[in-house]
Amino acid sequence: MTRKFYQQSLTERLETLASNSNLSPEDLRAYQKEGGLDLETANAMVENVVGLYSLPLGIAQNFLVNGRDVLVPMVIEEPSVIAGVSFMAKLAKANGGFQAAMTSQEMIGQLQVLDLPDPQAAAEKVLVHKNELLQAVANFHPSIQKYGGGPRDLQTRILPETEVGPMLIIHLIVDVQDAMGANIINSMLEYLAPIIEELTGGRVHLRILSNLADRRLAWASVRIACQDLAFDDYSGQQVREGIIEAWAFAEADPYRAATHNKGVMNGIDAVVLATANDWRAVEAGAHAYAARSGKYRSLTRWTKAENGDLLGSIKLPMALGIVGGATKVHPTAKANLKLMGVQSVSELGEIIAAVGLAQNLAALRALATEGIQKGHMSLHARQVALSAGAKPEQADAVAAQLVAENNIKIARALEILAQWNGTINA
Ligand code: MEV
Repeated sequence: MTRKFYQQSLTERLETLASNSNLSPEDLRAYQKEGGLDLETANAMVENVVGLYSLPLGIAQNFLVNGRDVLVPMVIEEPSVIAGVSFMAKLAKANGGFQAAMTSQEMIGQLQVLDLPDPQAAAEKVLVHKNELLQAVANFHPSIQKYGGGPRDLQTRILPETEVGPMLIIHLIVDVQDAMGANIINSMLEYLAPIIEELTGGRVHLRILSNLADRRLAWASVRIACQDLAFDDYSGQQVREGIIEAWAFAEADPYRAATHNKGVMNGIDAVVLATANDWRAVEAGAHAYAARSGKYRSLTRWTKAENGDLLGSIKLPMALGIVGGATKVHPTAKANLKLMGVQSVSELGEIIAAVGLAQNLAALRALATEGIQKGHMSLHARQVALSAGAKPEQADAVAAQLVAENNIKIARALEILAQWNGTINA
């Protein structure tokens, strides 16, 4: 019987990918130590480059998103996340997988207009000229329209009381399609600024996109039959209720919500990073969105369906790109996008939302039952075994003994290895 992906050696996993995915030998080379980013490319990406910094890349298994099987690359230094999401994706797959979508690919750019004697009158003037302003912006950036995008709307907001007096804020809404959109939006805003100054008589100060991309939301949902949640001595009902109670805690308490959402971002950031997207933008958007009601809340929701199934959902801003930028420069990011087979940025956002939801399910299921340390500890024990010098083929057995003895320390791992090696040598 073929071994499961997580049981395979590094070489076997690459062989599995070679036969189970659309990756070419060149793509697969990007996954190996000597592959990936080269220094010259890195030097062209950012300033003052002195070297490269690596992180583990793992492939999450079992994801079925909108009826399509997908292998999900994740870049993360924390153990248990990839195992956790893969396990929950398996539960989800047995129940039809994840449903997911994105609302649109519209980004918001902001113009801050100051020194206006009458901000309300200025706002009205902008709105009266909305169509010609949008047309001017569209003419300035014709290329995005070729791909079906372009400026969509201009909206005004007045902040009547700030530390420096009232301000008019203009939102430029742009459909950026498969681009992340930061450069498109910022250049459009810089073009629009003097036109707005002339029209309103005010002074345009900041011209920058908003990371609260609440018109570019990704959502995912999952339904899991209650009996499928049962494990060890825990009944399905116990696990389901435990998950809902854990979620209610996060929904009600920002101290818990911060940790709950941090866990969600364990899953999300890892895929965002694997595709060389801007994970700080996704982080900022996620947390601002979680606080949109004025109180910081959970990004997910867990409830009981009428028939007793567990229902989960997630919704958050997802500003990603699959054209241009680092996604097209970094060889591993290119291979990762290819591995997922995404044809549009929407498909990528959908997969990422599903991974965030799967992570949250894994964390809440563990927290609501045996606690997270048990699962964490066996993976941690493996790392301790490797640090003590265990060969990869010995690591699982040493780890199992460390866990059984409840003594996960390098010193003990060294003793075990000395004993074993002594036995072998004898
Ligand atoms: C650890 O990185 C993430 C968790 O703390 C998330 C959570 O508490 O929901 C386990």
